[in-house]
Amino acid sequence: MRLANPSGGLLWHWRAWRSQARWAATTAQIAAWLQQVHPQSDELLLIGASAGWMLPSAWLQQFKKIEIWDLDVWAPLFFSHRHGRTLKKAGVSWHYHRGDALQQLPQLLQNQPQALVFFDNVLGQLRFMSAHRNSVQQVQQTEQRLREIVQQLQGRHWASIHDRLSGPVDSLTAARAMPSTRSTTVPSEARQQMRLDRAWLNVLGAQGEWLDHLTASVFAPGQTVRDLAWPFKADYWHWLQAGEVRA
Ligand SMILES: C[S@@+](CC[C@H](N)C(=O)[O-])C[C@H]1O[C@@H](n2cnc3c(N)ncnc32)[C@H](O)[C@@H]1O
Repeated sequence: MRLANPSGGLLWHWRAWRSQARWAATTAQIAAWLQQVHPQSDELLLIGASAGWMLPSAWLQQFKKIEIWDLDVWAPLFFSHRHGRTLKKAGVSWHYHRGDALQQLPQLLQNQPQALVFFDNVLGQLRFMSAHRNSVQQVQQTEQRLREIVQQLQGRHWASIHDRLSGPVDSLTAARAMPSTRSTTVPSEARQQMRLDRAWLNVLGAQGEWLDHLTASVFAPGQTVRDLAWPFKADYWHWLQAGEVRA
């Protein structure tokens, strides 16, 4: 039995459990953003949920049926522990599947033609799943996969929260920056995008080189997105970006 994949597993659960206090402001901001996502269906297809460490049960309980997918063998157990009681009480029927939901996405979309599709901090992990670690092929392959996924979602109501960049921070500036969030519109012009990115990284107290999670083009120009600061470790933060695309 595998203990972990590159983006989940026991290490993730241990880290998430230990970091709950430091992540609390970000988790609250995710909950506030999700309040603005109004499903047109009572079904949810939830991808990369893990244990739902940063997901509010209150948002989940509005659905009648939830199909959940993750690669991680431990995820159903911990998810059940965190959300099971609330979902049961609310009469939500939920099924946890273990497998590669991105590989099977067209089939999953067909199985639930009306469901809201929510990628829960998974699209920014795709580069770690590539066979070509830290290479030009990895970047090209990941960007191509993300383009295919967005194409497959055409005509669907979907939302995603994912890593844009991550890296070291100056802890003093970073401490002042928390809780940080901003609403912005994806610009069509690369130079404007760079200016916006730089301004946001300054707010976060970014230092040195940040890792690109290759998700810059998941949301199209003109799309409203919410940026959130996630103090993943005290001195290593993630920039999360959340957005909702209506059918
Ligand atoms: C950063 S964690 C997400 C955490 C989760 N949203 C939470 O609040 O706890 C990313 C998760 O995505 C899962 N994952 C990565 N690639 C996947 C894929 N292709 N299909 C399904 N799950 C995937 C990993 O196993 C991991 O549990």
